[in-house]
Amino acid sequence: MELLSKLLKTKDAKSYSQASGLVRNALSPDVGLINPIELAPRAEIEALQLERLHWSLSHAYANSSFYRASFDAAGVKPDDLESLADLAKFPFTLKSDLRANYPFGMFAVPREQVARIHASSGTTGKPTVVGYTKRDIDTWAEVVARSMVAAGVRPGDMVHIAYGYGLFTGGLGAHYGAEKLGCTVIPMSGGQTARQVQLIQDFKPRVIMVTPSYMLSIAEEFRRQGIDPRSCSLEIGIFGAEPWTEAIRQEIETTFDMHAVDIFGLSEIIGPGVSNECVETKDGLHIWEDHFLPEIINPETGEVLPDGEEGELVFTSLTKEALPIIRYRTRDLTRLLPGTARSMRRMAKITGRSDDMIILRGVNVFPTQIEEQVLKVPTLAPHYQLRLFKSGPMDAMEVLVECLPDAQNSEARAAAAKQLSSNIKTMVGISVSVEVRDPGGVARSEGKAKRVLDER
Ligand code: DLL
Repeated sequence: MELLSKLLKTKDAKSYSQASGLVRNALSPDVGLINPIELAPRAEIEALQLERLHWSLSHAYANSSFYRASFDAAGVKPDDLESLADLAKFPFTLKSDLRANYPFGMFAVPREQVARIHASSGTTGKPTVVGYTKRDIDTWAEVVARSMVAAGVRPGDMVHIAYGYGLFTGGLGAHYGAEKLGCTVIPMSGGQTARQVQLIQDFKPRVIMVTPSYMLSIAEEFRRQGIDPRSCSLEIGIFGAEPWTEAIRQEIETTFDMHAVDIFGLSEIIGPGVSNECVETKDGLHIWEDHFLPEIINPETGEVLPDGEEGELVFTSLTKEALPIIRYRTRDLTRLLPGTARSMRRMAKITGRSDDMIILRGVNVFPTQIEEQVLKVPTLAPHYQLRLFKSGPMDAMEVLVECLPDAQNSEARAAAAKQLSSNIKTMVGISVSVEVRDPGGVARSEGKAKRVLDER
């Protein structure tokens, strides 16, 4: 335990990975923080999944008119499930199904048993509404607490939460998990960036939970106030709610001298805490498979793909009461990998959402691919947006970026623009124009970053 706390205190990522075998041993279930199922043999995990999957399908079919109709239309009954592979016989659930049943039509318990509602912002059409029973909220707190342990957080740590509180699942999801783990919670929410810095300086939290793009705005505010971000108390950041690359991880880890760990989730499945990276390996996100069963499908044909192949992530809830969700198509693109620090399978960092894929003159491009190139140009700041517009009959892209304060002269800007467009041409295969703006010239977000400005 002493060794563990020493290792978890070290800020040197290299000694972490060298010692990761030791960390793993030290984190054996008898530490009491890891649920034994996280380290159980695969056969045990799969037996539990099959039992729970049968319950979830039966619960959905018996109590949700939507699922009864959708299973009947596909000619399947919960009892048709004999093995985990039989799940492929069941129909998918789409975001449009939640919209069509707005607001509470998908719920499988009487409304009085729904203890909490969350909803998506609904920028395109009606919001997506999700609900939780008291037990669902407990499950959610448990998977977030588990994610935090994986990230290196311990009971008693102080946790600054800068995910937005409200209908968005980020703030309250993180909050309940941190409380369950026994942390001191600072429910700051998003926004008021100067105040974020002040509270971090005054309260000295060890942990922050926030979107990676907003963390970069917080870094900027530290510098604006003349404080070196490396001098602050933060040792662990748990970042998610939007795609982010290894390049951004490095940027944040160097800027703050802290560990940057990835957390994934979506409202329809539960919120944050569907999967999380382990701090000692940082090699993809372990899916909490005793509650959420993942599949990867070919997004065009719906066919289930073997582990290791990239495709669309699909989730089935195994324990959720208020809103059981069967084969939900997330639109997120990734692949499934075997377990490492835990027995539970990992998902690779999300490349992007199929909805965010830009097709430029026949080439498929994700904003994360441009992000990697922006971060390779040493005179550019890690803030960017992609403007899509018509150039005659063709679609075109302009990358809006910022120079660093000490590279504002016109030669440095021209060189940065040239280097970026040439790197994008070589590495991504598309021709783009680049506009290098002054520091602060690209819009910032206080939550999920808006990367694409579609003016077509
Ligand atoms: O973003 C839940 C969440 C809050 C996750 C805080 C992590 C931290 P939604 O608003 O429903 O829920 O958005 C879900 O966000 O389908 C992904 O496209 C994206 N997303 C979430 N986490 C990650 C991540 C929350 N770590 C959608 N990497 C998902 C990449 C992510 N994309």
